[in-house]
Amino acid sequence: MRTQVVIVGAGPSGLLLGGLLSKAGIDNMLVEQRSGEYVLGRIRAGVLEQGAVDMLDEAGVGARLHAEGLVHGGIEISWAGGRHRIDLHGLTGKRVMVYGQTEITRDLMHLREGSGRPTVYEAESVSVHDIDGARPSVRYHKDGQTHTIECDFIAGCDGFHGVCRASVPKDRITLHEKVYPFGWLGLLADVPPLSHELIYVNHERGFGLCSMRSRTRSRYYVQCSLDDRIEQWSDQAFWNELRARLPADAAASLVTGPSLEKSIAPLRSFVAEPMRFGRLFLAGDAAHIVPPTGAKGLNLAATDVGYLGQGLIGHYKGQPADLDRYSERCLRRIWRAERFSWWMTSLMHTFPTSGSFDRKVQLAELDYLVHSEAAARALAENYVGLPM
Ligand code: FAD
Ligand code: PHB
Repeated sequence: MRTQVVIVGAGPSGLLLGGLLSKAGIDNMLVEQRSGEYVLGRIRAGVLEQGAVDMLDEAGVGARLHAEGLVHGGIEISWAGGRHRIDLHGLTGKRVMVYGQTEITRDLMHLREGSGRPTVYEAESVSVHDIDGARPSVRYHKDGQTHTIECDFIAGCDGFHGVCRASVPKDRITLHEKVYPFGWLGLLADVPPLSHELIYVNHERGFGLCSMRSRTRSRYYVQCSLDDRIEQWSDQAFWNELRARLPADAAASLVTGPSLEKSIAPLRSFVAEPMRFGRLFLAGDAAHIVPPTGAKGLNLAATDVGYLGQGLIGHYKGQPADLDRYSERCLRRIWRAERFSWWMTSLMHTFPTSGSFDRKVQLAELDYLVHSEAAARALAENYVGLPM
């Protein structure tokens, strides 16, 4: 088998890249280790910046997003029993879109099916070869046979635990990592959202987040211990803990119900540099992770893929400049999102090692945020997506 670009991983990064390349007439194959249903079952991101929405429009999957997505012009931050609104639109002129990653993935899968380009699901033992040669290849096993796809380029869109980054020789890659001493326990339920905007909660018992997927489906999170197991958390225990962290008026209007999904995610900051190794490119979570507090992961993935798509399209037109600048262009944006996500995480969570001094500094910073327009604008600008 031979194609122009092999994309490893059919999460949002891989599917979106496939969509952009197919639209430009560039031949590509997607190789994914899981089934399509498994990929759709992972409940993750909810908030999209305008830039990510534009990219999905460009790929041709904007229709349902615009019909069903919820446009938000603000977020709330709660601490010490109070609620404070950050007017994203008033401060920046921009809004964000609330639309689940599952729905984006579903829309991109439909686009893919319509394009007629191949996707191999449940590919086993995927491996990448000859990334520095003129003819790199991707190999996998399926139905008892070994398959090899030769190509011009490999796009590593295979997430944090993928094979692409792991295949790069150690002396060619630098990894920067910070692991946080807690996780997020998330719950999805068919209950109306607590409020029409997201509420980020700082509480001594730990962080909380009230988000949503639609007017009838809510997504909630509570900070939990890394030792916690999902079986320990009954739905009732989750609702009780969330309610205990909410300000009284919000707690009183919380509607609870049976969970559709519950999962624990660890929190991590991670960057791999550079993002290009010969003919192998890393994009999305394969190259970087942000803690979800800043709602940046999927948005960064969309930017990487936009730059990579532009670079590859340019290459096939005889203009290699964008592809050569790929790493540098992505990393500048990535480090700014890393800084913001780390800052939001430090501001909003309870750290097991922090004492009364750290707590007082957190409260002073929150106070500054609502009494200084400059401080609120800095948060808002980062949240809606900085222009570069
Ligand atoms: P992934 O979604 O991880 O996809 C990678 C794909 O590659 C997977 O399908 C995987 O099965 C496949 N794969 C892995 N290994 C191999 C292999 N060896 N061979 C073939 N295929 C392989 N981001 C936001 O922007 N806004 C938010 O509000 C937000 N909230 C979040 C909340 C939570 C709880 C979490 C955990 C994340 C959140 N994120 C958010 C981050 C966002 O979900 C990720 O950044 C996004 O999923 C990255 O997409 P990706 O396609 O790069 O990676
Ligand atoms: C979500 O809805 O899943 C979500 C929203 C905002 C975040 C993180 C997750 O910061």
